[in-house]
Amino acid sequence: MTTNYEHHEYDVLIIGAGGAGLRAAIEAKQRGLKVGIITKSLLGKAHTVMAEGGMAAAMGNVYPEDNWKVHFRDTMRGGKYLNNYRMAELHAKEAPQRVWELEQWGALFDRTKDGKILQRDFGGHRYARLAHVGDRTGLELIRTLQQKVVSMGTDVFMECKVLQLVHDASGRVAGCVAYWRANGEFVTFSAKAVILATGGAGKSWKFTSNSWEGTGDGHAMALWAGAKLIDMECIQFHPTGMVWPLSVRGLLVTEGVRGDGGVLRNSNGERFMFNYVADMFRAETADSEAEADRWYDDHAAGRRPPELLPRDEVARAINAEVKAGRGSPHGGVFLDIGSRRTPEFIRRRLPSMYHQFMELAGVDITKEAMEIGPTCHYIMGGVQVDAETAATAVAGLFAAGEVAGGMHGANRLGGNSLSDLIVFGKRAGEGAADYVEGFQGSSDLDRAEVESAIAEALAPFERESGENPYDIQRDLQEMMQANVGIIRTGAELEFANAELDKFAERVANIKVSGGRAYNPGWNLATDLPSMITVSRTTTRGALERKESRGGHTRDDFPKTDAEFGTFNFAHQMTQGGTWQSSITTERSTLLELPAELKAILEEAN
Ligand code: FUM
Repeated sequence: MTTNYEHHEYDVLIIGAGGAGLRAAIEAKQRGLKVGIITKSLLGKAHTVMAEGGMAAAMGNVYPEDNWKVHFRDTMRGGKYLNNYRMAELHAKEAPQRVWELEQWGALFDRTKDGKILQRDFGGHRYARLAHVGDRTGLELIRTLQQKVVSMGTDVFMECKVLQLVHDASGRVAGCVAYWRANGEFVTFSAKAVILATGGAGKSWKFTSNSWEGTGDGHAMALWAGAKLIDMECIQFHPTGMVWPLSVRGLLVTEGVRGDGGVLRNSNGERFMFNYVADMFRAETADSEAEADRWYDDHAAGRRPPELLPRDEVARAINAEVKAGRGSPHGGVFLDIGSRRTPEFIRRRLPSMYHQFMELAGVDITKEAMEIGPTCHYIMGGVQVDAETAATAVAGLFAAGEVAGGMHGANRLGGNSLSDLIVFGKRAGEGAADYVEGFQGSSDLDRAEVESAIAEALAPFERESGENPYDIQRDLQEMMQANVGIIRTGAELEFANAELDKFAERVANIKVSGGRAYNPGWNLATDLPSMITVSRTTTRGALERKESRGGHTRDDFPKTDAEFGTFNFAHQMTQGGTWQSSITTERSTLLELPAELKAILEEAN
């Protein structure tokens, strides 16, 4: 029997209200289209705000010698050459324009003495190139885009959890089915084009900078709908998350601390990063403290400090120090800026970090070192998209931001996320608008898909008995942290793979009590299928990738293997799949770099 639900129709429907979703909405709105945005959280509350230190763009405000070619090279090298080169090229070329546009829309960036947008140093970037607002850059980006979106009269549906994408009879993605968190009532949306901008998936790990929203819904829904996921094994553990107090373990400590001169020390007081410089970075990395410190004042006078190596390198080094027994009392290492910069400088440049440590840990970072350790921050893997248009392999479906794969390869450079959101958010808005303008048909949702998604969502209420979703979430996070973490082995991954089948059985047997209105247990029950799908594809990719590269390190295959640098692992389901359908994994050959881009990489190396 078909039931009628509240229903909305749009030209372009955007799922996710972080930087990519909002930027896409502006573009589609400017084309005169009817645009709706859905967020399972509140407008303004997205993981975008956790990119605190800045957005990377080769504007050359601080170092005039910076340009898109250097940024492109840094991004490819940081990604260990697994990137979709065309995305990295477009990103490097277009990021400056997108940042200036934000400024025109009201973003209040920090300034150089002569009034230009100030740019700070971050790991893996040859020049200081992160436009920033203290350590609250993501927040300023969201605030600016949100104001614009609202002023354009865009419909925003908050606290609305999307369960599944829905096709039409032709197999095109034509909308989605969702429910209101406030009352548990179901709602359907149809659209000529759907853009996924749902962010990341860190909540499958125990220690993460992601808040409750980061359950990989967009990754999972795209896979179920027939799109491909690539590079899912490449997970970024940001080197600096809080480790203490336990209640806030994982909370981000911006890379801006190191960019502004902070250094890492072990329990012996040793600046240990000098011992972990990989061959590919040796020529440009300082080998003494004095040389590293000279670099902060003049990038030509010394080589880079080792604390500013790419994140994957720094996270592995911290992990090794803790394992070797040289960690801090609570299982991290020390991050010290207080002995290197004045209190005035620290409070001006890093106001959120100052308050975060003072209020949550009782630590005054202008005087004492912070205790930090790696935290699951970002997934490089995501939906395979066309670089120019953000279109996926499924007609009508587009993806941008963290949910899309390819741009960052095996490891993302800090600061390249915010610029990714605005470059590819805009491109997704344009791609979807072009698609809508050429679209002839109607958007009639497949009712059977709607009904089966709703039946599945309601099943936990109907079981006589079953498991509590919180127990499953806790066990899943612990299992993924222990077996699919920073350093992996084949045996651990085989174990995780088998465990995930058991987790899937447990998820299929969840019991939820109470009503549907604001029921967090039920909300989690509807997030867990996505978490299982993400965990499965990550584990599967990690098993298949028998080498170490970027955000994927195998203890049993510690070297990078050139052959694995020629393809991505791509996961797929048959269209209309569910989280219980089987996943196939194949090799998807990387695009061949044109000669002029190859020359840029070779020239700089
Ligand atoms: O450390 C940070 O401020 C995070 C930035 C990013 O992930 O790009």
